[in-house]
Amino acid sequence: MNQPLHGRTIAITGASKGIGYALARDLTASGATVIAGARDITGLDLPGVTFLTLDVTSEPSVDAFTAVAAQAGVDALINNAGVGAFMPVEDITPEVYHRVMDTNVLGTILTTRALIPHFRTRGGGQVINVTSDVSARTFANGALYTASKYAQRAVTHALAHEGHAYGLRVTEIRPGMVDTHFGDTEQGAEYKAAWLKPEDIVQAVTYALTAPAHVRVDEVLLHPVIQDVAY
Ligand SMILES: NC(=O)c1ccc[n+]([C@@H]2O[C@H](COP(=O)([O-])OP(=O)(O)OC[C@H]3O[C@@H](n4cnc5c(N)ncnc54)[C@H](OP(=O)(O)O)[C@@H]3O)[C@@H](O)[C@H]2O)c1
Repeated sequence: MNQPLHGRTIAITGASKGIGYALARDLTASGATVIAGARDITGLDLPGVTFLTLDVTSEPSVDAFTAVAAQAGVDALINNAGVGAFMPVEDITPEVYHRVMDTNVLGTILTTRALIPHFRTRGGGQVINVTSDVSARTFANGALYTASKYAQRAVTHALAHEGHAYGLRVTEIRPGMVDTHFGDTEQGAEYKAAWLKPEDIVQAVTYALTAPAHVRVDEVLLHPVIQDVAY
């Protein structure tokens, strides 16, 4: 079997379902050792994957997760954990604001921040942030979610500038509509048949992970063909 990620150790957040689960499953199939986190990991069991309880909004939880990853010699972090909430501006409450922003933005910062000393010491590594195609455009009812994704994109770009000095390669993955459990929707429902599949995102992430050492994949923007062209 082709194992392009043999010898790699990869930490993935939000790995209990959807894109993150597909990443954990398929990156190990490509030879990687994976440390995978989510709040609810009940019943999860994949060969080559260590599932750990992780709440990316909680500093102690992030510190415990990243300590295991650093100990295992992690060379790539995939910030994938994310939640969405879609409503007009007038309906946004502080509670929903904090849920979305804390998960998508603070979570990315906390997890990355905790591993930077490790990446500095080892002279680099990769951080791959799964943002969204809406990290640079918005729409009605999308204020909160897209604000979080714009912010996550800004964090990604700033990290790329900062990490350049010590060999960190930073990639933003920007999927359009993906058939997952996102927003508590049902995966595989008929109306999502033509959407991207989690495996399409795995392919984009694998492209970044397997790029030669002298190549940095800054960004991958991908959509299902049925989605309008939107830059
Ligand atoms: N689906 C789409 O159309 C789409 C498009 C573009 C971008 N994205 C982005 O892709 C990423 C993955 O989403 P998905 O579509 O795969 O959604 P999903 O099926 O709902 O999976 C989300 C994952 O994030 C985890 N998670 C949520 N809050 C967390 C927290 N506080 N700490 C740790 N893990 C947490 C969930 O597990 P627990 O609930 O057990 O913690 C779950 O494993 C998100 O960042 C999302 O914004 C999705």
